[in-house]
Amino acid sequence: MKIGNVSLPSPFVVAPMAGMTDTAFRRLVKRHGGCGLVVTEMVSSEGLVRGIDRTLEYAEYTEEERPVSIQIFGGDPAKMAAAAQIVEGMGADIVDVNMGCPVPKIAKHSAGCSLMREPAHAASVIDAMTKAVRIPVTVKMRAGWNDASRNAPELARRVQDAGAAAVTIHGRTAEQSYKGFADWDLVAEVAGSLDIPVLGSGDCVEPQQIVERMRYAGAAVPGYGQVDPEGRRSISGVLVGRGVLRNPWILAQATDIVAGREPRQVTRAARGQFLLDYIELLLNERVNETKGFRHVAPGTDDRLTTDLQPPTARGRERWVINKIRALCSWYSKGFDGGSQFRVRVNSCESISQLHDIVDEFFFAPADATTRPPLACGA
Ligand SMILES: Cc1cc2nc3c(=O)[nH]c(=O)nc-3n(C[C@H](O)[C@H](O)[C@H](O)COP(=O)(O)O)c2cc1C
Repeated sequence: MKIGNVSLPSPFVVAPMAGMTDTAFRRLVKRHGGCGLVVTEMVSSEGLVRGIDRTLEYAEYTEEERPVSIQIFGGDPAKMAAAAQIVEGMGADIVDVNMGCPVPKIAKHSAGCSLMREPAHAASVIDAMTKAVRIPVTVKMRAGWNDASRNAPELARRVQDAGAAAVTIHGRTAEQSYKGFADWDLVAEVAGSLDIPVLGSGDCVEPQQIVERMRYAGAAVPGYGQVDPEGRRSISGVLVGRGVLRNPWILAQATDIVAGREPRQVTRAARGQFLLDYIELLLNERVNETKGFRHVAPGTDDRLTTDLQPPTARGRERWVINKIRALCSWYSKGFDGGSQFRVRVNSCESISQLHDIVDEFFFAPADATTRPPLACGA
C-alpha cells in the first residue's frame, strides 16, 4: 500500500494516542513486527510554530520507526502549513491532520473534530498544507460531529479534492466519544467513493478483528486497497489504538493470520519483558544518544539535553512511573489479578519497586508452574 509516494510494508498501523504512543513505545511495538506505519501523539501546530520545547519533543522520532507520520492539530490554515513545513523539515514521511479529537480544549479552537463542522474551512487547511509541503498530507476524522451530522463522506471527498493523500475514519461521532461501536459500514462507504486510500479505525482489540474488519469492509486481504470492476476501492488499512495498548503484538498476530499461520502466542514472561524494556527505554531517553539518533525540528538540535530532562533523577523516575501507570491501565486489562497489579503500580514510589511489581506479576506468579502461557489480547 502506498500513501502518496510512501510505501507501507503492512496495512496495519499504530493509531495516534496522546500520552501513549511516544517514541519509546512506538519503537518497541515496531520491533515486535507487523507494523506498517506509526503515528505520533497529536502535536499542536501552534506549539511547533512557536518552538515550544514540550511540543517539539512530542514530534520527535527515531529512524527505527520509519515510516512515520507526525499528527498535528490546529485550525489556522497558515499555521498548519507552517507546522507541516516543520514536520517535513524533521524528515517525517507523512504529516497527518487531526480532525477527530472531541476534547473541548482542542475542539473549541476550530481544531480537532470541530473542523468536521466547517468542511469548507477544513478543506482550506488541507489546501494550504498541500501547497506548502511535498510529503503526503493525510487526515484522520470521525464519522461526524453527531448523529445528525455524519458527514465523513462529504468531508473526505473535500479533503481529497484539496490534495489529501489518504484519509482515516474512526467510525464514531465526536458526541459518542468512545461509547457504542465504530461504524465500519461508513468506513467502507467512504473507501468505495474516494480515489485515495481510506483506512479505518475502531474496536480492534483482537488480531482476528483487524483481519475481519478488513474483509468486512471489502478489502480482499492481502490485496487490500483493491479496486473492483466498477471502480470502487476497498479499505486500504486499519489503525489500531487501544488494542495495541493491551497487546503490542496484535499487529504481528494479525499479520500471522493473513499469512495463514496461527497467531503467535505471547507468554506472560514476554509481556513482563515488554514492560521492563519500555521502562529501560524511557529511563534512557536523551541519555548519551548519538547526534542524529533522534529526528528533531530544524534548528533545535543544539538545545541542551539537560534543559529537556526532568531536573532531577527523582523527577525522571516519577515521569517514567507515570508513563507505566498510564500504559498498565490498558496493558493489564482482562488478566487474572490485573486490578490488584494496577493498584500496586499506581501506588509505587520508585523504579526499583516498579521492577519488583512487574517481576512478581509476570515472572513469578504463585501458580506459574500450572498456568499455561497467556495468549495476548485476552
Ligand atoms: C488514550 C487515547 C489517546 C488518543 N489520542 C489520539 C490522538 O492524539 N489523535 C487521534 O487522531 N486519535 C487519538 N485517539 C483515537 C485513536 O487513534 C483511535 O482512533 C480510537 O481509539 C479508536 O480506535 P481503537 O478502538 O482501536 O482504540 C486516542 C485514543 C486513545 C484511547
